[in-house]
Amino acid sequence: MGVGVSLYPLASAVASEGGVGVISSAALDRLLSKRYNKRFNSYEAAYTEVSLALESGGVVGINIMVAGVKDYEASVKGAIDAGVHMIISGAGLPLSLPSIARPKDTALIPIVSSARALEIICRKWQRQGYRPDAVVLEGPLAGGHLGFQPEQIEREEYRLERLLPPVKDVARKYGDFPVIVAGGIYTHEDIKHFLSMGADAVQMGTRFLVTEESSATRAYKEAVVRAKKDDIIIAGVPGSPCGLPFRILKHSPMYMDALERGRPPRCDKGYVLFKDDRGRFTRCLAKESNESHFCICNGLLSSAGYNPDQEKPLYTVGSNAYRVDRIMTVRELMEELKGVKEPVESLT
Ligand SMILES: Cc1cc2nc3c(=O)[nH]c(=O)nc-3n(C[C@H](O)[C@H](O)[C@H](O)COP(=O)(O)O)c2cc1C
Repeated sequence: MGVGVSLYPLASAVASEGGVGVISSAALDRLLSKRYNKRFNSYEAAYTEVSLALESGGVVGINIMVAGVKDYEASVKGAIDAGVHMIISGAGLPLSLPSIARPKDTALIPIVSSARALEIICRKWQRQGYRPDAVVLEGPLAGGHLGFQPEQIEREEYRLERLLPPVKDVARKYGDFPVIVAGGIYTHEDIKHFLSMGADAVQMGTRFLVTEESSATRAYKEAVVRAKKDDIIIAGVPGSPCGLPFRILKHSPMYMDALERGRPPRCDKGYVLFKDDRGRFTRCLAKESNESHFCICNGLLSSAGYNPDQEKPLYTVGSNAYRVDRIMTVRELMEELKGVKEPVESLT
């Protein structure tokens, strides 16, 4: 979870409990430069954070978003050189991922929202002599950016249960690699449900956001605990400069501010988001004006406690965030998810 939510403390706690602890590479250079008061580039930041997460043992991954074009290759190289066990990559199609650096023992795992996207990736990777080691299928109930049109999000045919079988078919066609499902998975029963449908594993975000070990600010975690169902919205206008639907808490201070409009954005960086048709970097739209877009980088950095004086926080969550009623430790949560311990919700 980016920006700055899944750092080494959360990843190593999850890895120590037998899960795969996943770091987010988003803006890691800025976060580490601040943490250590010395300049880190994207390669050094990914290398350092992965190395720290690996120290306590277990399996460690890193999420590197295609949309962070400028830092993408350096983050991939830094993570592989540090010995990360898996790179999970989405927010765009990671078409050239296998060609960036020899993956050695690192598994390369694309994130998709449809069988069609997976087919495109498999074909492209085949030409590079590689096939995915697994795939994450993320449905419309997830947190962060969503790979769906706003009108698709509520529709029956886009439910994760309906997306899974065709994605399994493509995975089988290209060597039967594992399919990991994500988006709205909340309980031990949910995990069993998806495994019984043929998923090989699950990826979870929101529940781990609200753990002691996550690097979200206390205010962010408490805002999730207080949230009611109708506090969780898909931001439209103003929305993410990526142009994809983005699920947030409507009381996020940055969103409330952006609704009022008029205040110029305080972007000091302008992360490059996409390349245009001619391969040129495009400017972040929110750098110029917050009329239609919020400054997602600084808003998310602020919700991880980075430069909160500069920008107000933006809280992204999954659709089940309203069910979270307390901040837990990773150990407690993992015991609940493994079915070792009854969830408090079902005891009351
Ligand atoms: C706070 C937060 C930040 C996230 N950041 C990212 C990200 O940087 N890159 C990404 O690919 N997915 C991101 N996601 C999506 C998660 O990786 C995950 O797939 C999704 O949230 C699963 O749904 P759940 O939250 O209902 O468990 C984020 C989710 C949350 C809640």
